[in-house]
Amino acid sequence: MAYIPHRLLDYSVPALKQLEGEARSAFDAELMAVATGTGDMGEKIEMVRVRWLGREKGIVNKQIPDLWLKPAPKEAKRDVGQIVNRLKKYVEIHFHPLVGNVLPIEQQPFFAELEAIDITLPGARRPIGAEHPVIKTTNEMVRVFQKLGYSVAEGPVVETDYYNFESLNFPPNHPARDTQDTLFIAGQQGKPQRERLLLRTHTSPVQIRAMEKMRPPIRIVIPGTVHRNDPPDASHSPMFHQIEGLAVDTNITFGDLKGTLDHAMKEFFGSGVKTSFRPSFFPFTEPSAEMFVSCFICGGSGKRGADPCRPCKQTGWIEILGCGMVDPNVFEFVKDNGYDPKKVSGFAFGMGADRIALLKYGVDDLQLFFQGDVRFLQQFG
Ligand code: PHE
Repeated sequence: MAYIPHRLLDYSVPALKQLEGEARSAFDAELMAVATGTGDMGEKIEMVRVRWLGREKGIVNKQIPDLWLKPAPKEAKRDVGQIVNRLKKYVEIHFHPLVGNVLPIEQQPFFAELEAIDITLPGARRPIGAEHPVIKTTNEMVRVFQKLGYSVAEGPVVETDYYNFESLNFPPNHPARDTQDTLFIAGQQGKPQRERLLLRTHTSPVQIRAMEKMRPPIRIVIPGTVHRNDPPDASHSPMFHQIEGLAVDTNITFGDLKGTLDHAMKEFFGSGVKTSFRPSFFPFTEPSAEMFVSCFICGGSGKRGADPCRPCKQTGWIEILGCGMVDPNVFEFVKDNGYDPKKVSGFAFGMGADRIALLKYGVDDLQLFFQGDVRFLQQFG
């Protein structure tokens, strides 16, 4: 709605400033509407100029002086006069041909007050962005694998049931699916189950997508966002990040898996860390394991001085990832592209980048990574 000044009820300076601010914003909005609208810009700008600066009816040259200044009580005249003048100058300057340029000397002291055009003021600060700590951690980890000859693969976040589950050896209705706390896309019931959409719960679907495109041997690292129906708290988020890996060739063994991951962890956390593999279960790997790294905070002792080490819960070990040998049932889905389970073998692993970033930077609340508070994020820049 177009701005209409109204009579003053309160002549206090704060009230005047408030009205001045309102008038300025209204003026700014009108100019902005012209700048972003369609049609003859010159003509429209002239309309705004007349509406605000017109001698006969202009808002700042006639309406506001009449409504604010004239009826003002004697004691308030000076304050009102100042505000009205300032407002007038503010509007005028937008139509000044030398805006942002050299101004007549007599106008300079006043315009210096208006920061917008004081050429002697320091320029507007344009902070340079920096990598987000989770992305930084991801990139560092990805680089470790790139140095081993892995290439980067990516895939969609909105995934089908087929890639997220079925082809990873989670049969329809199998209870192993329950572990994934999946967020499903609504209104998919009309489609065959394997085509129904969901938010991928892990980066593992990209294993299949990559094997469909590339024949063996393959060595890929897969960074990406994933979603699970986990309410946000200090260690959970409905959106988080994973880094997945897949290596397939003839004669890949569990020894290759251990050697590769042990090397990668030493490269990432420092050569002093040890790794430990403990049996686990994933439908798409067999055998499966969880890999722990000796606690790089307490050095594996479980203690920090006399205090218990919290990150490793005094165990001296921190769980970093899930891994295992690619299940032959998974290869069956890409058999036609050269992945005959009788001929090839491989290993896969997947880790949470956010958790690793938390540990690495000693941050105690995962939510801080996603709230966008620049004061927090700046510390990693
Ligand atoms: N996709 C598994 C998860 O999200 C992790 C994993 C990846 C395990 C690859 C084994 C092999 O929990």
